[in-house]
Amino acid sequence: MSFPEHRPRRLRRTPAVRRLARETHLVPSQLVLPMFVREGITEPSPIGSMPGIVQHSLDSLRRAAAEAAEERIGGVMLFGVPETRDAVGSGADDPNGILNRATEAVVAEVGDALVVQTDLCLDEFTDHGHCGVLRADGSVDNDATLERYTAMGLAQARAGSAMLGLSGMMDGQVGAVREALDAEGFTDTLILAYSAKYAGAFYGPFREAVDSQLKGDRRSYQLDPGNGREGVREALLDVEEGADVVMVKPALPYLDVLADVRASVDVPVWAYQVSGEYAMVEAAAAHGWIDRRGAILESLLGIRRAGADAILTYWAVEAARWLRAEL
Ligand code: PBG
Repeated sequence: MSFPEHRPRRLRRTPAVRRLARETHLVPSQLVLPMFVREGITEPSPIGSMPGIVQHSLDSLRRAAAEAAEERIGGVMLFGVPETRDAVGSGADDPNGILNRATEAVVAEVGDALVVQTDLCLDEFTDHGHCGVLRADGSVDNDATLERYTAMGLAQARAGSAMLGLSGMMDGQVGAVREALDAEGFTDTLILAYSAKYAGAFYGPFREAVDSQLKGDRRSYQLDPGNGREGVREALLDVEEGADVVMVKPALPYLDVLADVRASVDVPVWAYQVSGEYAMVEAAAAHGWIDRRGAILESLLGIRRAGADAILTYWAVEAARWLRAEL
């Protein structure tokens, strides 16, 4: 009696066989921690919609970065929350702006133990909250914004950022920033292109985290959630313009795009598990409706399986501890 002929369950019978048969692995070096630093505060300030996450003071940021380095995660991505804002986001390329000062402080603290990365976008620094500068009619001016991005990129490189995270979704932003960096001798500064960044509801808690001034939406520059091919096209263009790494964002609702981008480019592909994804799991777990640790690790593994080489996640340090304990 040879029925059933195929018995795939053999590979699932014991923990040892399952461990050996597992296709996808998650390790701390594949995790990047996004961090917020707020100008003018001396104590960390909690973010209501992101329980467990804070806006850091310069001091607490430095300490938290050192802790992240001890867990040997892959890197940190810094976001600045300035005290004052204006129409062109002057704080973004001011060497004394909060993000640039924070970058210097973190690099001084952790050196090369982490890849110190910075968000390159104007939205935290503009009084209207858009990712670029506006024309008189209120629309976002792509090419004028590129000039602001090159200035911001140079300021971040001078502050010691190892990798610039271009998250503004302007056309030509990767090429413009790459050219400016190279012209000033920053040929080693990496560019992470947020290539397929979708407009939608999952950035809600982040807007609280950076005290966003945005009134409307970003649908004239971020991608339409219905468009997968367009995400691949954006990634291909960014590689052509010199991106070292391309990214898909958010992660879980866009795993198909992630897999397609992975199959289409030969540079590393990362994913950003965004604030709304974080908040959903934290809220359900707080109600006792979901196994928090299980849901976090399963979502990270799923994002890896779909094609992400690394993941930006607010759980980076905690997940790294769990992963190490499992070894
Ligand atoms: C833009 C930027 C945003 C996020 C990262 N970079 C906000 C936006 O596009 O509205 C969102 C990250 C998150 O939701 O966790 N500077």
